Amino acid sequence: MRILLGVTGGIAAYKAANLIRAFSEQGHEVTVLPTENALKFVGKVTLEALSGHTIDTDLYSDVAQVRHVELGAQADLIVVAPATANFLAKLAGGVADDLLMNAILASTAPVYVCPAMHTEMWQNQATAANVETLRSRGISVMEPASGRLTGDDSGPGRLPEVEQILEFVLGHGPLSGKTVLVTAGGTRESIDEVRFIGNSSSGRMGLELAKAARDLGGQVTLVGANLEMPAPHGVTFVPVTSVSDLELAMNQDCDLLIMAAAVSDFTVESPFRGKLSRSEAVTLSLTPTKDLVANYASNHPKTFCVAFALSPEGGNVEELASEKLWSKSVQAVAGNSVQALGSDVTEVSFVTPEGVEAVSGTKQAVSKQLLRLIIESMSKR
Ligand SMILES: Cc1cc2nc3c(=O)[nH]c(=O)nc-3n(C[C@H](O)[C@H](O)[C@H](O)COP(=O)(O)O)c2cc1C
Repeated sequence: MRILLGVTGGIAAYKAANLIRAFSEQGHEVTVLPTENALKFVGKVTLEALSGHTIDTDLYSDVAQVRHVELGAQADLIVVAPATANFLAKLAGGVADDLLMNAILASTAPVYVCPAMHTEMWQNQATAANVETLRSRGISVMEPASGRLTGDDSGPGRLPEVEQILEFVLGHGPLSGKTVLVTAGGTRESIDEVRFIGNSSSGRMGLELAKAARDLGGQVTLVGANLEMPAPHGVTFVPVTSVSDLELAMNQDCDLLIMAAAVSDFTVESPFRGKLSRSEAVTLSLTPTKDLVANYASNHPKTFCVAFALSPEGGNVEELASEKLWSKSVQAVAGNSVQALGSDVTEVSFVTPEGVEAVSGTKQAVSKQLLRLIIESMSKR
């Protein structure tokens, strides 16, 4: 997820460094946008090094790129931590006098605000009224923690610990508290000790689905068969090779199963020990493999199971997906065609008993859309 982290000019601004690290470790891409005053409390170099982005707080630089709109539009989520009393007042009043305020006002992303200030400032009627206004507009304002403040004084106004901020910001997703099992990639069945029967699935679709589920608060396990790219942060990764490895790795309960892996329909009956030589002709005997998703669905009636159906070029994707919905007794089928294999873009027909939705675009965009549709269907169950 792309997180825009606003940092404002309070004593707790230095704690933003830990927050950047924590978001990054969970696989999120963080763009930091400090106010001019925040940079009096924390070094620009620190924020740049930890986020991996250069920082320019000037609203009027690079104007050709219309940065304030771009920053807001690119963000999936905006977090402001710490948020000063001044920031709360400006946001409540819609004041757009610096890059951070402009980016927030120009964005439709959800906004999470973590105030930190002296108890008297937090309890001041003006601040309390601003917080009420922001909450009434759907902005999530976190309650500050109680404890030691800048001087010897203590009371409510401290910036909560990083873990609590993470929970506040990311724990509200529609999949929070849900376990999600995603399978990705293509299985390989050994012919001999060096050769195999495989397929051209890169695993990209499953990977993007795992990321999208993670970003929506899901506790994700990604079972990856021969993936071409590294597993994302913030998910439990189980690498597998063959159909039987995959079956073993799927031996766990979950609330949502997304079966995006391209699973071989056949396995070699007796793989050759060693390396076959071309000195004589070889006949391979292939045995059909188990239908893993159908099997899982019948053994886990409470799990919302999503199967994938791959249609040959020119085939009727929707028809095949609808047929698999019934034959596999799953809750949804994402139908796509062989052109999607190994590609960055895809077209999916998402079929449920309620109907069909067509989704197309990059695999990243399609994954986010599919998750939205899946969550909608899960809520109707
Ligand atoms: C040493 C010092 C510490 C401050 N700490 C805070 C604070 O924790 N919270 C707060 O709301 N304001 C604090 N302020 C006041 C803000 O810096 C001031 O309101 C400033 O205008 C905020 O600018 P910004 O919201 O644009 O970042 C502090 C000021 C000083 C001098």
